[in-house]
Amino acid sequence: MAATIIPVALFDAVVFGATGDLTLRKLLPALYWRFRDGQMPPGARVIGAARSELDDAAFRERAAGALAAHVPQEAREAATVDRFLASLFYVRLDAARADGGWERLAAVLDPERVRVFYLATAPDLYGPICRNIAAAGLASPASRVVLEKPIGHDLASARVINDEVGAVFAETQIFRIDHYLGKETVQNLLALRFANAIFARLWNADVIEHVQITVAETVGLEGRGAYYDSAGALRDMVQNHMLQLLCLIAMEPPGSLEADPVRDEKLKVLRALAPMTPERVASHTVRGQYDSGAIDGARVPGYLADLGDGRRSTTETFVALKVEIRNWRWAGVPFYLRTGKRLPHKVSEIVVQFRAVPLSLFPGAALEANRLVIRLQPQEGMQLAMMTKEPGPGGLRLAPTALDISFEQAFGLRYPDAYERLLMDTVRGNATLFMRRDEVEAAWSWAEPLLEAWAARGDAPRPYAAGTWGPSAAIGLIERDGRTWHEGG
Ligand code: BG6
Repeated sequence: MAATIIPVALFDAVVFGATGDLTLRKLLPALYWRFRDGQMPPGARVIGAARSELDDAAFRERAAGALAAHVPQEAREAATVDRFLASLFYVRLDAARADGGWERLAAVLDPERVRVFYLATAPDLYGPICRNIAAAGLASPASRVVLEKPIGHDLASARVINDEVGAVFAETQIFRIDHYLGKETVQNLLALRFANAIFARLWNADVIEHVQITVAETVGLEGRGAYYDSAGALRDMVQNHMLQLLCLIAMEPPGSLEADPVRDEKLKVLRALAPMTPERVASHTVRGQYDSGAIDGARVPGYLADLGDGRRSTTETFVALKVEIRNWRWAGVPFYLRTGKRLPHKVSEIVVQFRAVPLSLFPGAALEANRLVIRLQPQEGMQLAMMTKEPGPGGLRLAPTALDISFEQAFGLRYPDAYERLLMDTVRGNATLFMRRDEVEAAWSWAEPLLEAWAARGDAPRPYAAGTWGPSAAIGLIERDGRTWHEGG
């Protein structure tokens, strides 16, 4: 099935932090795919900006290396790669300084084009860079600025960043990335919920018994120790990606799929989350830190050994939470969230557990209530577990079966990376899949008391062996309620 590609307007995309990991691993490969599919208009330019002494040729050489590492060979036709590389340019710029060489960037930019400033830098530079963009007279009305997470490390620092960026750009020009929102399967949550009447009618506390959201990773620190140790799993995954998934699952139908109606509904979910009081934190949260163990049969070191230098740390690499949404739709329905590094499989999934039938008509049959498993990655798809009559004579014997949709089988398409969609949306000016200021701040308002309660308790995270599903207390968290985690993967 061929996908319809709608070209975007002519643009100049300035990538600050052009020699960094995000640019090379994600942004350039994503732009290449969009170029290859004919979505980037001829003449669109990507202008790398960083402090290194490079010229266009040297930057293109780095970009070629990045494509070789991150785009499969069969998609790297030499002529296409060459044409793409010719759309890349480089400007040497110390963007944190007002006198860092902005005149060089100004000389390159075309005032007639959509202008995207992508800040692939440390968040503490977002404010200074925006100030300098404005001082250099480069913040045209057709500009957008793209910010990566984390937006701050708590509510106060998020507000400072939002104020600083907001002093230069209007909220409609600010695109805060949560790359989970760009994943195809996450966008599909909107289709599942709002294009299918059967689910729309069943999506509430009368029919749904509980929901689980799991984002499990097998990787450890991947060389990001300095950042990760100051963040931890709650800031790195829960405050943003997991809460966004929760919002999409729980929100009311928006009036349209325009940016603000969608974000208004997500915001209401965030504001309806039961506050994390110290008592709730004690009974509804588990934090863990991985110890040495084995992943896929290979020994891996523990978190402290990964950090190195004999460092001690009480940063969590695993979180399990029981969350409640205080509104009419969800009253009494627990949402169990868990995420961690060095778990047995890479799997992101949402499990919607329906209630049991009110009375069984099948004596002796162990009826399993319906359960919808939405596989976000890998092996993207959906499974609806149902009870079915086992064929054959001699009474009515039932067996659990599944309606099973594999997206690969249904569509057979390559799954575009989240950044492909998000980058093109910034050029289009479509902010539906980006976080608005009030959403980010509402997420911090909820997360901050939790972080404070953990800090006040002062207890170390519970150890778990790499390759297991986190500390046993995480299993206790859900089993106490007579439920079990769905073992995907
Ligand atoms: C990032 C986190 O936002 O998401 C990483 O900082 C994490 O720690 C990553 O590994 C997971 O993303 P994905 O797309 O691989 O599920």
